Amino acid sequence: MKICVVGTGYVGLVAGTCFAESGNDVICIDNVAAKIETLRQGHVPIYEPGLEELIRRNVTEGRLAFSTDLRAAVRESLVCFIAVGTPSGADGAADLGAVMAVAAEIGRAMDGYRVIVTKSTVPIGTAERVRQAVASVTKQPFDVVSNPEFLKEGAAVEDFMKPDRVVIGTGSPRAIDVMRELYDPFVRTGNPILVMDNASAEMTKYAANALLATRISFMNEIANLCERVAADVDQVRRGIGYDRRIGHHFLFPGVGYGGSCFPKDVKAVIHTAHEHGMEFPLLNAVEDVNEAQKHRLVEKVVAEFGADLGGRRFAVWGLAFKPRTDDMREAPAITIVEGLLAQGAAIAVHDPEALHEARKAFGERVSYHRVNYEALDGADALLIVTEWNEFRRPDFPRMKRLLRRPIIFDGRNLYEPEVMREHGFTYFPIGRLAVRAA
Ligand SMILES: NC(=O)c1ccc[n+]([C@@H]2O[C@H](COP(=O)([O-])OP(=O)(O)OC[C@H]3O[C@@H](n4cnc5c(N)ncnc54)[C@H](O)[C@@H]3O)[C@@H](O)[C@H]2O)c1
Repeated sequence: MKICVVGTGYVGLVAGTCFAESGNDVICIDNVAAKIETLRQGHVPIYEPGLEELIRRNVTEGRLAFSTDLRAAVRESLVCFIAVGTPSGADGAADLGAVMAVAAEIGRAMDGYRVIVTKSTVPIGTAERVRQAVASVTKQPFDVVSNPEFLKEGAAVEDFMKPDRVVIGTGSPRAIDVMRELYDPFVRTGNPILVMDNASAEMTKYAANALLATRISFMNEIANLCERVAADVDQVRRGIGYDRRIGHHFLFPGVGYGGSCFPKDVKAVIHTAHEHGMEFPLLNAVEDVNEAQKHRLVEKVVAEFGADLGGRRFAVWGLAFKPRTDDMREAPAITIVEGLLAQGAAIAVHDPEALHEARKAFGERVSYHRVNYEALDGADALLIVTEWNEFRRPDFPRMKRLLRRPIIFDGRNLYEPEVMREHGFTYFPIGRLAVRAA
């Protein structure tokens, strides 16, 4: 099948590459010429495990190409995916500017039947708006399909190749056939392709992200209460996770959720509710809890060192909003580093993949370290913000030698408090009792 994917970001690049990998001819389109040029030269502008190898193979075998020429790509494709960004506007509503602009461009370029697919996360009713925008510029036949994406950054290729489910929103039998043909190779192990109306497909994506964000805020509140009543949130997490009605996923407390999806999608649901005369107090609380949680680690630092951090130096391990990505959009690390800088501290940061993104956020105000241990040199304490695997079993004696004081504020509960005490650290986890070096 011939496909074009408009928007070559975390979603579009992964989707386009994986469609090529299953044998389709794919053209990935972006309006940022530099990004397309980078890809043409064989470089991948984002970090996503397994993606580079897949891109190289499919480009070499002639199934995957990159271009800024949307018109030519639409002329060659039966299916046109829209995978551009839908950031929060000032009022919390998803900004559909890019989606609608691309829809109109596709409409103007069409020379026959097309399946136009919204893969971006879009508010309920967008498919209808896209249909009207396209119909206003072309007489050619087309269908609009809502096909939300559920991949996780850091495991995007695997998620796309083996989705838990595929959601296809459309009332058109012709479009359903096309979409089934496209997705059948990805669901050979029996996971379902769920066909529904456009509005329900659009709502499904928001409901999924809003529920996941709710679980995170819920566990962060439980963790904060655990600290006050001397309970251990890690025991509690196991205790509830074995309940099959609850399950083990998304029960880890931490420094609050970030990234390009949860914050904006929660805002968008609240906004949609308001538009329809409804309050959504639950999601307002989810947001408030998350905002507060992003400050917890700095509060713990201030409780230990006092509000004036002038002359202090802190190391921060982990900046990306989650491990195995370089994405720092809405990352809690930004709030944490800015909070420490505002109190006068000097900051040394390390992340295995996100240092180039961090430079955009912090400029010359922090020092950057490719090697995690180097950030510790002379620091008064270490803050762990992202749970990269390589932080799980570090060289504790080496860390102790490098740090001015052996203190760790762990926003991800990577270590056992008792073990840390044995190693001679003062250790502040989340929702578990802190321990002090003897
Ligand atoms: N990142 C995720 O984990 C994820 C997961 C599921 C769904 N989504 C949704 O998918 C959508 C895209 O997210 P993303 O993270 O890939 O965003 P992104 O910012 O990484 O990529 C968007 C791309 O679209 C391009 N673009 C913008 N306007 C364009 C235009 N008019 N013509 C051509 N290209 C244009 C941008 O240059 C950029 O490369 C969003 O709606 C997001 O909510 C994201």
